Amino acid sequence: MDKHEAEKEINKLSEQIEAHNYNYYALSKPSISDFEFDKLLERLIQLEKEHPDLVKPDSPTQRVGGFVTKEFKQVKHRYPMLSLANTYSEEELNDFDERVRKVVGDDFEYCCELKYDGLSISLIYKNGILQQAITRGDGTQGDDITTNAKTIRSIPLKLTGHGYPEEFEMRGEVYLPLKVFEKINKEREDAGDEPFANPRNCASGTLKMQDSAEVARRKLDSTLYYILGESLPYNEHYESLEHAKKWGFKISEHTELVKDMQGVHAFIAKWEKKRHDLPFDIDGIVIKVNSFRQQNMLGLTAKSPRWAVAFKYQAEKASTTLNSISFQVGRTGVVTPVANLNPVLLAGTMVKRATLHNADNIKKLDIRLGDTVWVEKGGEIIPKITEVDLSKRKPHSEVVEFPKHCPECNALLIRREGEAGYVCPNDKNCPPQIKGKIEHFVARRAMNIESMGSETIDLLFKAGLVHNISDLYNLSAEKIIPLERMAEKSANNIIQGIEDSKNVPFERVLFALGIRHVGETLAKKLAYHFKNLDSLEKASQEQLLNVPDVGEIIAKSIVENFSDPHQIKIIEVLREKGLKFALDEAEMALFSNVLEGKSFVISGVFAKHSRDELVNLIEKNGGKHVGSISAKTSYIVAGENMGPAKADKAKKLNIPLITEDEFIKMIEK
Ligand code: IVH
Repeated sequence: MDKHEAEKEINKLSEQIEAHNYNYYALSKPSISDFEFDKLLERLIQLEKEHPDLVKPDSPTQRVGGFVTKEFKQVKHRYPMLSLANTYSEEELNDFDERVRKVVGDDFEYCCELKYDGLSISLIYKNGILQQAITRGDGTQGDDITTNAKTIRSIPLKLTGHGYPEEFEMRGEVYLPLKVFEKINKEREDAGDEPFANPRNCASGTLKMQDSAEVARRKLDSTLYYILGESLPYNEHYESLEHAKKWGFKISEHTELVKDMQGVHAFIAKWEKKRHDLPFDIDGIVIKVNSFRQQNMLGLTAKSPRWAVAFKYQAEKASTTLNSISFQVGRTGVVTPVANLNPVLLAGTMVKRATLHNADNIKKLDIRLGDTVWVEKGGEIIPKITEVDLSKRKPHSEVVEFPKHCPECNALLIRREGEAGYVCPNDKNCPPQIKGKIEHFVARRAMNIESMGSETIDLLFKAGLVHNISDLYNLSAEKIIPLERMAEKSANNIIQGIEDSKNVPFERVLFALGIRHVGETLAKKLAYHFKNLDSLEKASQEQLLNVPDVGEIIAKSIVENFSDPHQIKIIEVLREKGLKFALDEAEMALFSNVLEGKSFVISGVFAKHSRDELVNLIEKNGGKHVGSISAKTSYIVAGENMGPAKADKAKKLNIPLITEDEFIKMIEK
């Protein structure tokens, strides 16, 4: 196929794929099967591989991520990103309406919208192509998160249809659908990490991640609600959003035009109930004057527009009695106080328990047994106690003391610096910690010892047969058959499952070890970076910080883990038993250390490799890929059409430019 033909097919495929993306992500109306979709995408990836100079910044292949940004560039907003004045009552809203009428008269419409509970984002388009995505930041300047935003499937990389302005900004919200949020939190708990408090926090953490491939995996969504530019082709807000939908943006289907406050109040009342059925969180509604001309008449204050206002829903509350408090010990030893309540109906579900978070929170609430308390379900999934109704407190009520000793093993609890919770330090002998670590080890995404559930683990622990993960490999069918309710067949299955786990690849073994803060994805990154457990064990804090997404806390946790004699002993037994402690030979053949300590910036278009491939080659050979040039950059791999600003900066900082071929020579063995 010649280049011209390839280009034609690439263009056609890109268009087809983006159209399917739009149908699926913006309209929720899939127009192709997943299988067919993947086939189109694979073909495009293949063609782009063969013709790297034809890869465009708006290619759908950009959505899978793969770029690592160590530090986001700060960008000034062309138009400041304002916020909205909040109201909480009908009266406050009526005041807003009165102010509007004073300026524009009585002939106008309000546009009522949902108030998405996520993060605002500004998308800049030029000639229909997404140029830049910026976070709100302080309203005047924000972070350039373009590579991360490109992974959000509902954000168009290239607009469709016609009539869009040559240059404009589209603003809206990035958020995490509730289903995805729950899945991510489950994974975090598996890694021994604190779950996110709510989808908003999770979305915010995700947008700022350094590795865009990881952002892509998190499946953020977006809805756009505000268009800004010098010469907009329409006169009204609602109308412009209708058109924006045709250009490929995801626009809310729940927006309504109303004539007066009666309409506004009806909209509020409708969503007060229905908001709990939405697949994402909202925290209120937004009311906007529809006509741009009238918006201009009303103008802005320093903080917010005078033509719009937010109405915030009160979090749903219920009052009930606190019966008792349990103190739960998790796999990592953190002790969490949980309130046991008289069952009460809240936002459609029966609530019996609520988290009290930690000791400080108990003190702050001054909560006592038998108290009447208010339970709330806000953005948080787990209900929490927000207030004690002191008027109903019984005389001589008992103050709740946080235990000094572990409720499970009686060890003296400690408090780690900078952390809010009390921790049981007896990680080697405290039963829920031991059992929790084994449960994590055998989990499907770790060693996948399917035949072994939490009941079996409990049984084995009580019988004194396992005390840590390495003991599993000393089990035999003869030893476990005598256990209560254990049949010969299931005993054999367990032993076979343990035997099979010796083939589990290194990256999953690393995850299974249960090092604090080392989840599934990070385990993979560490495995690829260090290639075997020996090098990881020896790694210094500094060397660990070189791995993308490893910060101080994680680095410290890894170093601590490998300097713990108990942990080292367990690892030695596992090594003897034949678990995989290194990447496979075949995989290893692709790796080297020749670029260790060197960092590279990639700029321009290349003849033989795509940008992703170059990044991959850098990382597999021990180097570091960085997004922007600094004094610390070792080389710039320069292709065709390298930007003049980059070239200038490289010259100023005296950083050598190398060609693609020169780079390949560097890594050739
Ligand atoms: S309009 C000039 N519409 O709420 C104001 N904002 O405090 C432009 N938000 O920062 C914003 N849903 O992040 C607008 N339908 C909606 C919204 C919305 C959520 C957020 C936005 C903004 C904050 C206002």
